[in-house]
Amino acid sequence: MNPFEDIESNVRYYCRRWPAVFSTAHGSTIVDENGTEYLDFFAGAGALSYGHNNPILVDVAIEHLRAGKLLHSLDTFTVEKRRFLEAMQRYVLEPRRLDMVIQTVGPTGATAVEAALQLAQRITGHRAVVGFAGGYHGMTYRAASISASMGGRQTSAHLKDFVELPFVAHVTESDLELLDQTLRSTVDGQRIGAVIIEPTQGEGGARPFDPAYLRAIRERCSELDIIVIADEVQAGVGRTGPFFSFEGSALDPDIVCVSKSISGLGLPMALNLVRRSLDTWNPGEFSGTFRGNNLAFATSATMLETYWADSNLEKGTEQRGLTVRAALEEMSSQFGQGRFVVRGNGLLCGLDVGDTQLAADIAQGAFDRKLIVETCGAGDTTVKLLPAIVIDEDQLAEGLTRLGDAVAQTRSPR
Ligand SMILES: Cc1ncc(COP(=O)(O)O)c(C=O)c1O
Repeated sequence: MNPFEDIESNVRYYCRRWPAVFSTAHGSTIVDENGTEYLDFFAGAGALSYGHNNPILVDVAIEHLRAGKLLHSLDTFTVEKRRFLEAMQRYVLEPRRLDMVIQTVGPTGATAVEAALQLAQRITGHRAVVGFAGGYHGMTYRAASISASMGGRQTSAHLKDFVELPFVAHVTESDLELLDQTLRSTVDGQRIGAVIIEPTQGEGGARPFDPAYLRAIRERCSELDIIVIADEVQAGVGRTGPFFSFEGSALDPDIVCVSKSISGLGLPMALNLVRRSLDTWNPGEFSGTFRGNNLAFATSATMLETYWADSNLEKGTEQRGLTVRAALEEMSSQFGQGRFVVRGNGLLCGLDVGDTQLAADIAQGAFDRKLIVETCGAGDTTVKLLPAIVIDEDQLAEGLTRLGDAVAQTRSPR
C-alpha cells in the first residue's frame, strides 16, 4: 500500500510536483527521508520567510512547551498575546503611523479575508466586491469566489457579487475610467462595499501594481465610502522588503489581512489590522476556535523583536531581491529570446516564460537539481521564487545557479 496514493485525496497537489518524502528542515534546506538535501525557494508558499526551524524561534517554542504555557486560549487574555500585541504596536504599527487595532481570526489567510469582507459589508451595508485579475485570496467559498482561477487549480466557487478589474502594471487613463465606472456600478443588484487588492500579487505572478493606481484606488474609495482591503497574506511580513508591500504607496488600506509568515515559524496564524475608527464589530460577532494560538503569539513576538527593531532585514531583503532579479534578467537575455519577463519586489520574484509547459519543465528541471520552485500566474507560465528572506548569500547564489541550469537545459535543442 502507498498511504499517500491510496488514502490521501486526489486533491493533493504539491506532492505531485515534488514527489519526495520530506523529513527534516533547517533554514533554506529540506531533507528527505533518504537524506537528500533540497534548497527551498518555495518557503511554504511564503509561510516560511524566516526559514525552516529558525533556531531563535525554535528555542522560544521549546521553552514555551516545557514551561507548560497555554497553547490554546480562544481570545482570552494571555501573557503571550499581550507580548505579541505590544510587539505589533511597537515594531509594526507605531513606526508606520498605523492607527489600527488587531483582530485575531482563525488560522488561515482565507479566514482573514472572510472577516475583512464581512466587516466591510457591515460598515458599508453593501455586499459587492471589486478584485483584480490574478488576485488570489484563499479557498473559503467567498474568498475563492473573488480569486482568479490559476492554471490547473480551478475552483468551482463563484458567488456573483464580485467584479474583476484587470491587473495594472502601468496605469492609463482608461484604467482610471474603468475603475471609476466599476466603483459606481452595481453588481447582482448590490453596490460596491469593498475593493480587495494584493499590492504585489503572489499567485498572480509576483506582480506589483503601479503605485499611482494604488493611490487612485484610495482616492476614489474615500470619495465613495468604499472599504480598501490590502491582502498582505503572501507579500507581507517582509517578503518584498518592507513589512507591508503597500508601504511607500498611498494605498493607506482600511483593513490589512496578514497570515502566512506572521508567526515566524510557519505556525498557523492569521489576523486583520483594522483602522481604529472602522472597528465596529460587536463582541463575538466574528469568532473562531483557533484565534488564540499562544505558541504562534510567542514566536511571532520574538520574530518581530529580532528582525523588525531596525531596518537591517528590510535592506537585506531588498539587496537579495536585486541579486535575484539580476540573475533572472541574465537568464532572460540568454535564453528568453525576448519573450521572458522578470517581475517582482524584494524576494517575491518571478520569471514569466510565457508558456505553461516550459514553466513546468523549468520547475521540474530545478527539482531534478534539488531546488524547489513553484509555478504561478495566469496559465501557470511564471516560475516563482520565494526563498526565505533570511537566506544566506551562498545558498541564494547556489539556488540561482541551479535554476539557471534548469532554464538552460530546457532551452537547449533536445
Ligand atoms: C494573497 C493571499 N491571500 C490569501 C491566501 C489564503 O491563505 P490560506 O491558504 O492560509 O487560506 C493566500 C494563499 O496563498 C494568498 O497568497
